[in-house]
Amino acid sequence: MERTLIILKPDTIQRRLIGRVLQRFEDKGLVLAGMKLMCIDRELAQTHYAPHEGKPFYPGLINYITSGPVVVLCLQGNRCIDIARKVMGQTFGFEADPGTIRGDFGASRSFNLVHGSDSPESAATEIALYFSDNELLDYAPNGSAWVFPEDDA
Ligand code: RTP
Ligand code: MG
Repeated sequence: MERTLIILKPDTIQRRLIGRVLQRFEDKGLVLAGMKLMCIDRELAQTHYAPHEGKPFYPGLINYITSGPVVVLCLQGNRCIDIARKVMGQTFGFEADPGTIRGDFGASRSFNLVHGSDSPESAATEIALYFSDNELLDYAPNGSAWVFPEDDA
């Protein structure tokens, strides 16, 4: 079963959208394996966003992600990395399709509500940055077999 790292970024928390954004992932059937409210310090932000170091938007990105509390999620389910990114929508709110989180709640280039891992490799690295093994639960909620049938790998 695949896992991905999702961050509800500071604008989601400040705009009191945690419940509505989390609902999008729950509605899709993804399973919550881990969840925490925390502040990301600059060192962790720099590690997480190391692939973007040197890009023009990097300093603003570090300021943004460290600007207030975030909610970090580990979601689980077949194909959940790609599924979560489709639920999130295109990077910039003004380009994201209606029906996606960024398309419905975002309008800017840099404040885009959510982060989602973009590959199995980055998911593994990012999950380990935010969660220890004993903070992640492996369980199948009632009804999840109707979302992820066993023969649908
Ligand atoms: P994320 O990593 O946060 O899930 O977003 P993403 O894959 O859709 O976008 P990515 O290219 O990885 O960019 C990381 C974050 O940097 C900010 N950004 N700002 N001003 C700009 O041109 C610009 N480009 C990217 C966004 O917050 C984006 O989510
Ligand atoms: Mg990215």
